[in-house]
Amino acid sequence: MPRIAYVNGRYLSHRDAFVHVEDRGYQFADGVYEVCEVARGYIVDMGPHLDRLDRSLKELSIAWPVSRKALTIIMREVVRHNRVIDGLVYLQVTRGVASRDFVFPANAKPSLVVLARKADPGFQARRATTGIKVITVPENRWERVDIKSVGLLPNVLAKQKAKEAGCQEAWFVDTDGMVKEGGSSNAWIVTRDGVLVTRPADHGILRGITRTTLFKVASRLGLKIEERPFAVEEAMRAREAFISSATTIVLPVVEIDGRPIANGEPGSVALSLREAFFDVAEKSRA
Ligand code: PDD
Repeated sequence: MPRIAYVNGRYLSHRDAFVHVEDRGYQFADGVYEVCEVARGYIVDMGPHLDRLDRSLKELSIAWPVSRKALTIIMREVVRHNRVIDGLVYLQVTRGVASRDFVFPANAKPSLVVLARKADPGFQARRATTGIKVITVPENRWERVDIKSVGLLPNVLAKQKAKEAGCQEAWFVDTDGMVKEGGSSNAWIVTRDGVLVTRPADHGILRGITRTTLFKVASRLGLKIEERPFAVEEAMRAREAFISSATTIVLPVVEIDGRPIANGEPGSVALSLREAFFDVAEKSRA
C-alpha cells in the first residue's frame, strides 16, 4: 500500500509529495510543526498540539493555512489513508513560497504538509523495561552561526524587525553588549584613528567571504584592521560603520538605533573599500 501525504490541498503518494524549492521552510526554516502520537487508532492530545501550533503560528505571524477544523479532518484523513493504528502524524506549516528574501513576503500563502506513519507499538514499551542511557552536551542551540546553515529563522525575524523600523539591517548584540554580525552581513566600524574593526571569525559569526576579501582590499589601501569585538557604544561613537556581504559588498551604515554615526553620511573609508573591492575579488567567468 503506497504511503499518502497531504501537500497543500492534495493527497499524494509519497513518491510525488514535494514542496517548492523556494518554500521558506526549505530556505529559511521559516515554519513550525507538530507531531502527535497515534495510539490504538486515536490521535493523542490533538487539541493541545493544535493550541501550541496556534501559538507558534502567532509568534511568527504566519496565518493558519486552513481552519483548525479542516486541519483536524486532514490529519484524520492522512492517518486513515495510511492505515495508521499506532504511529504518528506529523504536520508542518511554513510561510510559503516566495522569491528568496529574508523579510516576510507580501503575498505568500502558508504551505501545509501532513504525514503519518506506522510504528511498532511495543517498541517503546520494550525499551521502558530496560531504560535508556544519555550523554551530556553543551547547550548551543543555535550558537554555531559560523556554519552557513539554512536555519535562518532568527535572522528572518531580526531583518523583519529592522524593516518595520525603517532600517535595512539588524545587528545581533551579545549579552556583553558587543556586536556580533548582521542578519545577513558582517559588521564593521572605523575608529577615530582610521582603524577597521570587525569581530573575530570564531563560532559567533559567519566568516563572510566578502569580509575575508576586504582584508586584502584594506591591505592594498594601507588600512589597518583589528579583529576584536566592539560594543554598540563604540560603534555609535565611531568615525564610520559599515556592513559586508556577497549581495551588498560594502554598505555604509549611517544610523544605529536611531543615532547618526558621525555626521550621518556614508564614510569615505567604506566607500573606498567598496570602490576597490572588485579589483581584488576573485572573478570566475559566469
Ligand atoms: N548572507 N553573516 C550572515 C549571517 C550572512 O547571512 C552573510 C551572508 C554574511 C556575509 O557573508 P558573505 O560575505 O560570504 O556573503 C555574514 C547572504 C548574502 C544571504 O544569506 O543572502
